[in-house]
Amino acid sequence: MKTVPTLEDLESKLGSLDGKRILIRTDFNVPLERDGDATRIADDFRIRAALPTIAWLRERGAHVVTASHLGRPKGTPDPKYSMEPVRVRLAELAPGVELLENLRYDPGEEGNDDAFARKLVEGIDGYVNDAFGASHRAHASIVGPPKYVPSAAGRLLQREVDVLLGMRNDPRRPFVAVLGGAKVSDKLGVIEALLDTVDALAIGGAMCFTFLAAQGNPIGESLFEPDQVDTCKRLLAATSKPIHLPTDIVGLDANGNVQTFGTRLPDGAKGLDIGPGTAAEFGDVVMDARTVFWNGPMGMFEDDRFAAGTRAIAHAVAETKGFTVVGGGDSAAALAQFGLDDDVDHVSTGGGASLELLERGDLPGLAALRGEP
Ligand code: 3PG
Ligand code: MG
Repeated sequence: MKTVPTLEDLESKLGSLDGKRILIRTDFNVPLERDGDATRIADDFRIRAALPTIAWLRERGAHVVTASHLGRPKGTPDPKYSMEPVRVRLAELAPGVELLENLRYDPGEEGNDDAFARKLVEGIDGYVNDAFGASHRAHASIVGPPKYVPSAAGRLLQREVDVLLGMRNDPRRPFVAVLGGAKVSDKLGVIEALLDTVDALAIGGAMCFTFLAAQGNPIGESLFEPDQVDTCKRLLAATSKPIHLPTDIVGLDANGNVQTFGTRLPDGAKGLDIGPGTAAEFGDVVMDARTVFWNGPMGMFEDDRFAAGTRAIAHAVAETKGFTVVGGGDSAAALAQFGLDDDVDHVSTGGGASLELLERGDLPGLAALRGEP
């Protein structure tokens, strides 16, 4: 596969960056906190992650213009998704850097409209994609600009791709993936692809109930996807790799009391976290691994009664001697909540993007930088 041009390639292509206007597509789609009319950034991780590329370009005299989407405003201006809170934080971290208005205020962004892409690069000398978290979207600002101006991957995009593809193609073994979150249907592709490369998989979160149902367990009122039960059955039957599923569950009984169950939930009960036995088992699997990928919480960790499973996995991921990669906003937020975000080797800025890169080995944003249609 052709390699993706780097910032150094962009510099040689443009001769010098001094005085050049460079557009950086960043992923400043940060979590927001609303308090009446005021909106604050809940976590500026994605803004700080773009700073190395911004600094590199500015040291060489470039004038930097950044552009991002924020939330899903559906192609029309919506003050709820104004970039203003991001602009304020960016001005503190990198004074003098321009930031355009929310790209998704224009239907041309998600519609991948060529005219919108051309408008974005008007007066622009070069384009840098540093929006790893959005590079699985074939949207105008991601795939359009490389058709019109010299383009490159920023430092963040480059590092994400190096780490995730390195893990996908040449992991130190044993390589274990721990997956959680709500929807099996979102993650089927990656589960199938991971089963080719991992040595073991551990599955928690709400999606474990679809697997437990596939094994014939009654799951009470737990969230699950009935139309995915057969697929889960097929996956379990087809693989020779160990798939660790919960052996106990914490949740609410029919009267709303917190209880620990086995894998057969009584009528009216709802599973909301993996149980302590499962947390210990998954923790051992993580401690014994030399490469760990973790995506998705093990339970409803925002509620302290159902946080123990996710907390146990976070601690195991932080403590294992293996190389650790955490992807996805919820798992990253859980790590931060437990104060463990500095104890993993790589926290990815992308959830969907990291899963798609692991699944397919490529992303629309990378193909565009390689000059592929
Ligand atoms: C994300 O936060 O997942 C990325 O910024 C992409 O946003 P999207 O899921 O709304 O396309
Ligand atoms: Mg997403």
